[in-house]
Amino acid sequence: MAQINLSLFLLLVLLSPSCSFSKIQVPSDRYNQAETLIRELNLFPKESENIVDKDPFLATEAAGIFEKRFVFPNLENSSVTIEDLGHHAGYYKIKHSHAARLFYFFFESRSSKDDPVVIWLSGGPGCSSELALFYENGPFSVSKNLSLVPNQYGWDKVSNLIYVDQPTGTGFSYSSDRRDLCHSETCVSDDLYDFIQAFFEEHPELLKNDFYITGESYAGHYIPAFAARVHKGNKGKEGLRINLKGFAIGNGLTDPKIQYPAYTDYALDMGLISKSDHDLINKLLPVCEVAINLCGTDGKISCMAAYLVCNSIFTAIRARAGADINHYDIRKKCVGRLCYDFSDMEKMLNMRSVKQALGVEDIEFVSCSTTVYQGMLVDWMRNSEVGIPALLEDGIKLLVYAGEYDLICNWLGNSRWVQAMEWSGQKEFVASPEIPFEVNGSEAGLLRSHGSLSFLKVRDAGHMVPMDQPKAALEMLKRWIGGTLSQQTTETENLVASI
Ligand SMILES: *[C@@H]1O[C@H](CO)[C@@H](O)[C@H](O)[C@H]1NC(C)=O
Ligand SMILES: *[C@@H]1O[C@H](CO)[C@@H](O)[C@H](O)[C@H]1NC(C)=O
Ligand SMILES: *[C@@H]1O[C@H](CO)[C@@H](O)[C@H](O)[C@H]1NC(C)=O
Repeated sequence: MAQINLSLFLLLVLLSPSCSFSKIQVPSDRYNQAETLIRELNLFPKESENIVDKDPFLATEAAGIFEKRFVFPNLENSSVTIEDLGHHAGYYKIKHSHAARLFYFFFESRSSKDDPVVIWLSGGPGCSSELALFYENGPFSVSKNLSLVPNQYGWDKVSNLIYVDQPTGTGFSYSSDRRDLCHSETCVSDDLYDFIQAFFEEHPELLKNDFYITGESYAGHYIPAFAARVHKGNKGKEGLRINLKGFAIGNGLTDPKIQYPAYTDYALDMGLISKSDHDLINKLLPVCEVAINLCGTDGKISCMAAYLVCNSIFTAIRARAGADINHYDIRKKCVGRLCYDFSDMEKMLNMRSVKQALGVEDIEFVSCSTTVYQGMLVDWMRNSEVGIPALLEDGIKLLVYAGEYDLICNWLGNSRWVQAMEWSGQKEFVASPEIPFEVNGSEAGLLRSHGSLSFLKVRDAGHMVPMDQPKAALEMLKRWIGGTLSQQTTETENLVASI
C-alpha cells in the first residue's frame, strides 16, 4: 500500500470534492454519498422530501397546534376505543418559520398523568422518530400483517411520551417553503423550542411535570442543542418555564473530533480490521482532525471538507470489514441489500385508514428524507459537546448510553468524549468505578456515574438499544428519571446485607 501524502490529500479534498486516493475512496458527490448511506438503511422513500407545492392545511388553521385524539384503526385488539387510550397526533405550525409544520405523536403515560414528559428525537439527520416509535420504545410494534401489537416495554409505561418528526421535511412534517429547511442546530433547537412551548400551552396540566429530552444517533447533535435552548429560555424568562431535568443520548454523534479517531480502535478491538489496516487508515486521522478543528462549532466549507475526509475513515473500515456487515450491529449482516427492513412501518403509515386517523391528509410519509439530510451535512462535523458542561453545572442530568455492538456511533468514541469533557466533576467521574447495571437478575450493562453525569455501556445491543434490549432500556429510563440509576439493584443490596 502506497504511503499517503497527507497534505496532498487535504489539498485535493479542499480543491475538489472529487478525488480518490489509494484504496480509500472519497465519493465524487456528497449527495451520492448521502443517498448511499440512506439506501443502506433501506429507507428510501417514494418522495425524497416533504417540501410540498402548497400547504394542504393552509385554509383550515392559521397558526399554533392542531391536535387530535385518535386510535390506530389497525390495532390487533379491535375492542380498544379512543377513550381507553390517551393517544394524540398533531401538527404544529412553527412560529418563526415561513410555512413549516411539525408532526408529532403524544402518548399519555399508561401509569400516571404525573409521570415525566419525555420527548424522543431520532437521527438521520432526516429520519422520522416513528422508526423508534414502532421498532424501539413506543406503545406498539408493527406485525407482518401491518396490525399493531402492544409493546410491554414501551416508554409510555413510565412517561408522557412525545415523538416529533424533525427537522422540517422529516416524516410527516413538511413545508411549502424551502427556506424552512435547517442547516444548523440553532435552527433545529429554535424550532423544537417553539414546538415544546406550544405543546405545553396545549397541555398546561403537564407543565409542572419533570421534562426529559431523549433520542439517538444524529440526535447526539440535536439533544444537547435543544436542552441548552430550553435552559436559555428558562433563564431568560422567555416563555413558559419548562421543568427540564435531564437529557439522554443513545449511540449518538456528539463530538466528532473524539469520535472519529475511535472508529479504527473500535474496529480493531472487535476484530473487524487487522492491525495493519488500522495503522494505514489512521494515516487519515491528522488531516481529519485538522479539518474538524477548522470546522469548530459553526464552520461551513471546512465542515464539508471534514465530512468528506473523516467519513473516508468509516468507508475504509466498512470496505475492509466486508460489504455485508451491518454497521449498526456488527454481529448482524445486512440481509440482501438491507440492514434493517422498516418497510412494514412505511406501508402501515401510508395506509389510507391510518392517515385519516392521524389527520395527515395526503402528506406522504418519508422515513428518511435525503433533502433534510443534505441540508444538515454542513452541521455533521460540528462539535455539539460545547454546550453540555454549563448544563451539568446547573444540575441538569446527562445520560449517555451505547449498545456495545454498534460501529457507526460506537460506545468507545462515546465513552471517550464523555470522559474528556471538562466540567467541575470530570476528575471524580473518570475516577469513579464501573458498576454493573442489573436487570432481571443479570448484568445488562456497565455504568459509570458522578453527579449529574452517567455513562452506560449496554450489553447485547447495537445502535438501537431499545429495539435490542427493550426491558433493559425501559429499566434504564425508569431508574434514570427516578434518580436511582447509580444505586445497586436490590438483588445486590440483599446480597451485601447477607454478607
Ligand atoms: C382489549 O382491549 C380492551 C379494552 O382496553 C381490554 O379490556 C382487553 O383486555 C383487551 N384484550 C386483550 C386480549 O388484550
Ligand atoms: C396479525 O398478526 C398478529 C401478530 O402476529 C396476530 O396476533 C393477529 O392475529 C394477526 N391478525 C390478522 C387479522 O391476521
Ligand atoms: C428474565 O429472566 C428469566 C429467568 O432467567 C428469563 O426466563 C426471562 O426470559 C428474562 N426476561 C427478560 C425480558 O430478559
